[in-house]
Amino acid sequence: MAFFNNMALFQTKFMSRFALFATFLIMVHQPYQAFGRLFYPKNTNVDDASQAGVCDLTVRFHGYTCQEFEVITDDDYILSVQRIPHGRAGGNGTRGPPVLLQHGVLVDGLTWLLNSPEESLAYILADNGYDVWVSNIRGTRFSRRHVTLSPNSRAYWNWSWDDLITHDLPSIINLIFKQTGQKIHYVGHSLGTLMALTSFSEGLEVDKVKSAVLLSPVAYLSHMGTIIGDLLARSFVGELITSLGLAEFNPNSPLVANLLKTLCDKPGVDCYNLLPVITGKNCCLNASTVDLVLKNEPQPTSTKNMVHLAQIVRYGRLRKYDYGGRFKNLEHYGEYIPPAYDLSKIPHDLPMFLSYGGQDALSDVKDVETLLGLLKGHDADKLQVQYVKDYAHADFIIGVTAKDVVYNQVIKFFKKLD
Ligand SMILES: *[C@@H]1O[C@H](CO)[C@@H](O)[C@H](O)[C@H]1NC(C)=O
Ligand SMILES: *[C@@H]1O[C@H](CO)[C@@H](O)[C@H](O)[C@H]1NC(C)=O
Ligand SMILES: *[C@@H]1O[C@H](CO)[C@@H](O)[C@H](O)[C@H]1NC(C)=O
Repeated sequence: MAFFNNMALFQTKFMSRFALFATFLIMVHQPYQAFGRLFYPKNTNVDDASQAGVCDLTVRFHGYTCQEFEVITDDDYILSVQRIPHGRAGGNGTRGPPVLLQHGVLVDGLTWLLNSPEESLAYILADNGYDVWVSNIRGTRFSRRHVTLSPNSRAYWNWSWDDLITHDLPSIINLIFKQTGQKIHYVGHSLGTLMALTSFSEGLEVDKVKSAVLLSPVAYLSHMGTIIGDLLARSFVGELITSLGLAEFNPNSPLVANLLKTLCDKPGVDCYNLLPVITGKNCCLNASTVDLVLKNEPQPTSTKNMVHLAQIVRYGRLRKYDYGGRFKNLEHYGEYIPPAYDLSKIPHDLPMFLSYGGQDALSDVKDVETLLGLLKGHDADKLQVQYVKDYAHADFIIGVTAKDVVYNQVIKFFKKLD
């Protein structure tokens, strides 16, 4: 039981200890009971569950029109994408500018839809006349299918964030571009910002993007809370590779649970405090929303993706996936060291809005400053930066004050460009 508690703490990432404790009790006593706005038991077999999509689970419930799309990547992963084409009041025939919402790691598109419509970015944008698209990257609950591979196979999990940039993002952006015929406003959180920054720096898809909003930007991870930094950079990488190999990284699975238990038993690692260490101390979360998060996240990703994220910590800069040996890299890249991503190559006239929090342990202020240093060459009038002193990682997505503090600024930023 004590361990389960630790796991819940690790999994939810988003919660204050207090809220977690309350929701943990609920979870233990009523793990499968449907309440709230989503009806998803946490441990449902995702493959069966994928029959009901995000639209049915929550969006339509709030009175919004919602369309499910399926897109197949060039390496045959089948991704689900949702569209909320207009606000609750209904459309007037003309479609607003498209906005893509790209979630972070270990979560999925649902995270944009967990607060009330008055508080959630997706709904707020729709009600402001935007054509909203929500993506779900490979491996997450609604995007677990592949033309030929089963998610039970090793080959299915043979990818890292390099592949999200070269396969998932292009497929999603091209789908939206084809459907709307318009350039896209991109909004990313956490890993979603890393995907944008690296993709655009490589010149990928940036010609179809009108602007980029980066919430809790992640490009450097050198100043993360020391415990997590340690876990990721040392123990995590080694143990992940040896104990899991090329596989699914599913925080709900016994295998990953055991691994985390081992880590939690290490001296100096206090898993009871792991959560605030991971996200920072979120100021403004609603306990009911936190409860929904508990029931719907975390989502699986690939072990290779986690290892690649850990490599950012270890190397202190962004490179393609390191295969762990000069000759292995040579085989894949024609070089001993994996090629670096050069963020200064992002087109200097791409309008960007970057918002970061003073309490964010994942997107640490010092690391964001490093990123801003790299963007020094950006046209000054094309880069808007917002610093929110009280905010931590999850506040940007499910904070109850996020509309006033961040989203209204985002809409102002878009309106100037539309
Ligand atoms: C329809 O709604 C859009 C988005 O709110 C607005 O920009 C546009 O002016 C409206 N068009 C008409 C004909 O009312
Ligand atoms: C994983 O992908 C790499 C190429 O990116 C390939 O060399 C390797 O054989 C693949 N492994 C599996 C198990 O599919
Ligand atoms: C928290 O969420 C619940 C359930 O959606 C809602 O009734 C309540 O108004 C929310 N509180 C705040 C402060 O947003």
